[in-house]
Amino acid sequence: MSTGNNGKALDLLLEKVYRGGGYDFRDYKRGTVTRRLQRRLYATGTTTYEEYTRFLESHPEEYQSLAEDLTIKVSGFFRSRHTFQQVARLVLPRLVAQKMRHGEPSLSIWSAACARGEEPYSIAIMLADFLGNQLDEFEISIHASDINRQALAEAEAGVYSPKELESLPPPVLANHFSPNGEGYVVNNNIRQMVSFSHFDLVATTPPPFTALDCVFCCNILIYLQRQLQEKVLSLVYGSLATPGYLVLGEVETPTDSLRPRLECVNAKARIYKKI
Ligand SMILES: C[S@@+](CC[C@H](N)C(=O)[O-])C[C@H]1O[C@@H](n2cnc3c(N)ncnc32)[C@H](O)[C@@H]1O
Repeated sequence: MSTGNNGKALDLLLEKVYRGGGYDFRDYKRGTVTRRLQRRLYATGTTTYEEYTRFLESHPEEYQSLAEDLTIKVSGFFRSRHTFQQVARLVLPRLVAQKMRHGEPSLSIWSAACARGEEPYSIAIMLADFLGNQLDEFEISIHASDINRQALAEAEAGVYSPKELESLPPPVLANHFSPNGEGYVVNNNIRQMVSFSHFDLVATTPPPFTALDCVFCCNILIYLQRQLQEKVLSLVYGSLATPGYLVLGEVETPTDSLRPRLECVNAKARIYKKI
């Protein structure tokens, strides 16, 4: 199907998905949306956006399937190794020292698009390895959220295949995972640090969390058009304490309006401090 004269039909379809299904993909980048929509057209046996829009009317359960397909949950443990190394080198020592100085041994971190849990569990493992014996002295809360309910259910289960864990250094696998059927499950002491919840970054205002020490907002902005990136980043920024750290990872960049309010901690890993 050509998308050339389909702009209007696509607008109407995304408007319907927003009004009828509560999912707001109107300002997601069109390239990804149209590619993913093709899969739903194929799956539902429809051939045009108009036909698919009518299909949604008679099959409301399709909204959920569409949302599943439009949200890309590709992730990985320590996906950007460099970013995690820099957080452990530049952010954790400062945060831990500051907390100890103030006699408040707690850390609260948000993984704002957590997919199937790889990112928040990586954060928990990084903290466990960094704090070592000090871990018990700290109250750790890692909030992990996503729009994709299927991904959240899988994240909560914490079970991964050997293939998904093959890039982990053997000591990390041995120390933080246990064999489970054909795969592995994340150990309880790591899982206990993480709580999962459903949040739509596009629809959520005000921020669901406040006064956070650190937010990971990685590999989500790339799917959004510029003005929506602004909105999401401003939400995430609003959830941080001052000082608090924003980790965007190697793929994302902060929007121009946010830059003056951030101090760069590491340019490649795009780690910033709220000022
Ligand atoms: C490519 S994954 C990134 C996962 C992880 N942050 C990483 O860097 O590996 C993008 C995630 O963003 C989620 N997502 C997309 N739109 C969202 C929204 N409006 N609110 C919350 N999460 C969203 C998707 O469901 C998906 O799990």
